[in-house]
Amino acid sequence: MKAQQLKETIDFLKSKGITSPEIGIVLGTGLGKLVNEISIEKEISYSEIPNFPEATVEFHSGKLIYGELSGKKVVVMSGRFHLYEGYNAWEVTYGIRTMHGLGIKNLLISNAAGAINLDYKKGDLMLIEDHINLQGSSPLAFNGANNFGNIFADMLEPYSKEINIKLNLIAQEQKIQLHKGVYTSVLGPQLETRAEYRMLQILETDAVGMSTVPEVIVAKQLNLPCAAISVLTDECDPENLQPVDIAEIIAIAGEAEPNMITLFKEVIKVL
Ligand code: HPA
Repeated sequence: MKAQQLKETIDFLKSKGITSPEIGIVLGTGLGKLVNEISIEKEISYSEIPNFPEATVEFHSGKLIYGELSGKKVVVMSGRFHLYEGYNAWEVTYGIRTMHGLGIKNLLISNAAGAINLDYKKGDLMLIEDHINLQGSSPLAFNGANNFGNIFADMLEPYSKEINIKLNLIAQEQKIQLHKGVYTSVLGPQLETRAEYRMLQILETDAVGMSTVPEVIVAKQLNLPCAAISVLTDECDPENLQPVDIAEIIAIAGEAEPNMITLFKEVIKVL
């Protein structure tokens, strides 16, 4: 059933000309401008793609974009699906399986996240080196998941060391500050309490957000090398908690976006 669904989606996209993407990209909240750098060959709304979930959060535009970036063919998800929107973990990761089926060899992910490590500031970038899944679900926990690969996927290296080394080098060359750390995923959509932020500090996580981890787990099942960068949009200091509004998070993501775009554009050249 699911395999058939996915095949229909992939066949449709191939018939529309998305034939040979090398790299898949997921753009997070407030991080859509990378699209302006792509010489676009095809742009398809999620709503037009058979079996694709539809984006509900209005600031996610919900389009699949195919074209050339830094001399490589890329397919970009502009707008992702979150568990907090009510999608299940299969739906949240449907785009990853789709891009893999289209033939991508590497996956680059971005997200907006809160800084738990208080040495990290609003507007900074963090390369994810490892994660903690606190979402209470797995995208590999469904009947038939083993048809898509090993469900007991090991998590020794969920984030490709090879790509991360490249990203670190590029950050140095480009004089972009790139922190490193552990990302913890929570369900949301509400933000965390002070007690939860204290708990996350005890867990020695560096950033917290509501996405990415399911996508990375699926990439791991598919043996698809991936890297992910968080744009830190707020400082989660339990002793000095400030009201956050989502508009501010989006605005701060937008300010940090040019550096993230540079990192992605440069790393694509060397993938
Ligand atoms: N918590 C969870 N998700 C987030 C945050 C946060 O503080 N900031 C951006 N995404």
